[in-house]
Amino acid sequence: MVVLKDNEFKKKFSFNNIVGTQYIFVALILLLCTLLFGILGAFQYVIPGLFRNIFSFEKVRPLHVSSAVFWILLSACGVVNNYLASVKGKLWSNKLYIWQWYLFIIAILTILVSYFFGIFGGREYWEFSPVLAIPIITAWIFFIINVFKSIGNFHNQPVYIWMWMTGVVFFLFTFLESYLWLIPAFRTNVVKDMTIQWKSYGSMVGGWNMLIYGSSIYLLDKISGTEKYSYSKIAFALYFLGLFNLMFNWGHHIYTLPIPKYIQYISYAVSMTELLLLGRIIYNWKTSINTAKKHYHILSYRFLVAADVWILLTLLLAIAMSIPAINIYTHGTHITVAHTMGATIGINSFLLLSFVFDIFNIHKQKTIHTITAGLYVTLAALFIFWLSLIIAGILKANWQMNHYNTIPFGVMMHTLQPYFISFLIAGIIASIGIFIIVFTLFNHNIKQKS
Ligand code: HEM
Repeated sequence: MVVLKDNEFKKKFSFNNIVGTQYIFVALILLLCTLLFGILGAFQYVIPGLFRNIFSFEKVRPLHVSSAVFWILLSACGVVNNYLASVKGKLWSNKLYIWQWYLFIIAILTILVSYFFGIFGGREYWEFSPVLAIPIITAWIFFIINVFKSIGNFHNQPVYIWMWMTGVVFFLFTFLESYLWLIPAFRTNVVKDMTIQWKSYGSMVGGWNMLIYGSSIYLLDKISGTEKYSYSKIAFALYFLGLFNLMFNWGHHIYTLPIPKYIQYISYAVSMTELLLLGRIIYNWKTSINTAKKHYHILSYRFLVAADVWILLTLLLAIAMSIPAINIYTHGTHITVAHTMGATIGINSFLLLSFVFDIFNIHKQKTIHTITAGLYVTLAALFIFWLSLIIAGILKANWQMNHYNTIPFGVMMHTLQPYFISFLIAGIIASIGIFIIVFTLFNHNIKQKS
């Protein structure tokens, strides 16, 4: 194990770096928007047709999902920029970094406003007009240039650098791929079109996961004061699995399409092994870290442990969903939503928040207690939220397979009401927990500046 000397450690894991904080602030506001639109969507589950004329579910869902996706993307960019500046002393270009931010803000604002007015034109998850993909692509190209130029060379780089380089390139590639439907040759063949669409989405998630997992490894080393993880075999195994996953995990998104079954099984197995490895790395790290280091980074530590718990829960659900006989049932049910939200909140968001607390470096006891209380509230409510969706999904799957012809859709949906209500209540409580976390962080920073 490489243990860094004090001055080496400070140089590599610089503590006073504010790069990326403006990305993180906007991302946190997007997180709050995610919660707001999520609650509204959950109300529409419970009261079908609520605000149908002015603010229907068709508007609320894209507003919620896009806010969630941009919370993840923007905070991941901020964190990678920050950590990269810490490792390399500074970013290659401050101008590119600022322009990346401006382009993102312009694109995100325009996208959310256009949804508000019911202006669409894209596909699921990217429902906005394809023209608005241009600033996102440009911003991402700036990001790639800055990441590669800041890194300089490929020699003897730690695993997180490889993860960041791979993540930025693959994200752009798959984002472009998700727009192939604009070309008639792809759009006119339904199977080809859907396969490419789902392949690109699956790989895109793999791309941002590379940014997030890379940052996790960096943080584990930073907290433990070693380079134990960033050059370890298990972390490189995670990297190569992640890379394979990026390219092939899409197989499990297209169970219903006529493609060879072995593609689906391999991709599912790889996705799960990747989660298993990340879960194991965090678990081993947790047991090896000493009390002083843990307490110095207590907020990041707690969010990392929370993410580890959610890795386990997501794995359990993914294992169940991967069984082909079960997977056929789960399609188009709330089980898929539980899986997606469990992973984006429980794993992605908790990991991102652990980096955010590391970057903001909070040591005031009162602030730490309030944020921890927010985390515990969120964790408890999130579990009920997730379970409610799974139960609603099982009941819907049962109807889809066994009672489709005998029980009308409306009657079946009525039986799901109790689970939608517990989903709504737990969602509101989880949102309060996250709101406490974000608000306390904002408040802490405002007080520090004044
Ligand atoms: C950090 C917080 C959250 C994130 C990152 C997040 C993420 C997501 C994602 C990615 C989806 C798309 C799922 C899919 O298509 O399979 C989704 C859907 C949804 N979410 Fe969330 N979510 C969050 C919080 C919430 C909360 C607190 C609520 C409710 C109180 C909520 C309610 C919904 C609803 C109603 C849908 C639509 C499901 C459907 O189309 O049937 N979300 N969310």
